Amino acid sequence: MTDQGPTSAGDDLPGKPTSASRTTLSHIMTAADTNLLGTVHGGVIMKLVDDAAGAVAGRHSEGPAVTASMDEMAFLSPVRVGDLVHVHAQCNWTGRTSLEVGVRVMAERWNESTPATQVGSAYLVFAAVDENGKPRSVPPVIPETDQDRRRYQEAQIRRTHRLARRRAIKELRASRPAG
Ligand SMILES: CC(C)(COP(=O)(O)OP(=O)(O)OC[C@H]1O[C@@H](n2cnc3c(N)ncnc32)[C@H](O)[C@@H]1OP(=O)(O)O)[C@@H](O)C(=O)NCCC(=O)NCCS
Repeated sequence: MTDQGPTSAGDDLPGKPTSASRTTLSHIMTAADTNLLGTVHGGVIMKLVDDAAGAVAGRHSEGPAVTASMDEMAFLSPVRVGDLVHVHAQCNWTGRTSLEVGVRVMAERWNESTPATQVGSAYLVFAAVDENGKPRSVPPVIPETDQDRRRYQEAQIRRTHRLARRRAIKELRASRPAG
């Protein structure tokens, strides 16, 4: 945690709608993406998730942004070679210098017309940073639909829990002898 505030005074930055930074990243899974069981390695999916979410964070904050945390990464069913994977990402919530990106991972067979099914989801927090790596202000996100507003409210709950967990662990560590 820093003692200093963000390096730009942009607390009054104009808001940006969710749709301005919503992004989809698509990729066909090949044999190079598999684990020892022959299905797609979870880390391959996590990289795509981080890439798509990073694009959203960069677009929304209009500059560099770094991954601060990734939580609730859920793998709902295995992804296979020959699956066309779509990673849908949008800005759910903004704080002063950070923002939460929600990601939904869908998969469909690359050569069939069957509908895509959801295979994963995740929530990532990005911090917007300046050229020195210091946090900088982000524009407030403007949710546009009922679903966007629901996601905003749910993201606030996750934010409250993240802060409470960090504070509780910090206090516990401070209360115990080092080691
Ligand atoms: C993320 C990072 C910039 C935060 O820097 P910091 O000095 O701790 O700054 P702050 O405490 O002011 O945090 C900045 C914002 O990020 C949020 N944040 C920081 N760490 C977080 C975490 N672990 N989880 C969620 N949010 C976090 C803060 O709540 C704050 O948000 P707000 O301004 O909207 O309230 C810094 O820890 C960093 O550079 N980490 C490495 C990031 C990186 O390299 N990622 C790629 C992995 S290889």
